[in-house]
Amino acid sequence: MKKVLKIKSQKNKSKIVCLTAYSKNIATIIDKHCDLILVGDSLGSVLYNFSSTKKVTLDMMIEHSKSVRMGVKKSLMVVDMPYNTYRNPKEALSNAKKIISQTKCDAVKLEGGKKVCQIIKTLIKNKIPVMGHLGLLPQSATNFKFKGKKITERKIILRDSKLLEEVGVFSIVLECIESSLAKEITKTLKIPTIGIGSSEHCDGQVLVTDDLIGLNKISARFVKKYSNIEKQINDATLRYKKDVLKNKFPTKKYSY
Ligand code: KIV
Repeated sequence: MKKVLKIKSQKNKSKIVCLTAYSKNIATIIDKHCDLILVGDSLGSVLYNFSSTKKVTLDMMIEHSKSVRMGVKKSLMVVDMPYNTYRNPKEALSNAKKIISQTKCDAVKLEGGKKVCQIIKTLIKNKIPVMGHLGLLPQSATNFKFKGKKITERKIILRDSKLLEEVGVFSIVLECIESSLAKEITKTLKIPTIGIGSSEHCDGQVLVTDDLIGLNKISARFVKKYSNIEKQINDATLRYKKDVLKNKFPTKKYSY
């Protein structure tokens, strides 16, 4: 709970730095620089080439989260509840308890507004911290366009953000929401907003780490590539291959 309160206290003080992790090694590296690490169900498309996050299972999330847990020491660790694991309060509570007890994560995240308020209430009543997710909702999306262009859509997203705050989420991810709406939500709420493709006005930012380091081939407008790890892995593999073919590796130094 201390880590959750720390994230909340950062609102209007310091930007909240968030990234995804699906395994221990990446989590260990990014933990030093992040406030929050999310085991996102984006792992379905990033690691398993699924066409949608709907195919991600609870077991997949739990196994990846156990690995991530080993690398996360400082950051708040949040785990996505996958599709069809929170269709009603009873199902959500049972699955959230499973996630928390097996992965030792600090909180869970689930997608949606008004529809999931009763579910969120039940989790929070049972002392499970919850992060909300509004805007583009990959688990139920029929298209991947940004949200908040139409007045009616804007009103629903703003209303939902207030409802989520009311039921007690500690923060909300705003995915692909039009800039001025993200700004309005961020100004209206007392809890922090974490943007992905939702402008600089949010209280924090999140990106998929594989996108940020150039390991995942994606060309979304909101992704900035900070490194080209694909090239580095390719170059290292090529040098290794040459050495093996020319019998330059292993030398005595690398042998018993
Ligand atoms: O699944 C995920 O990685 C996410 C982030 C993109 C916010 O939900």
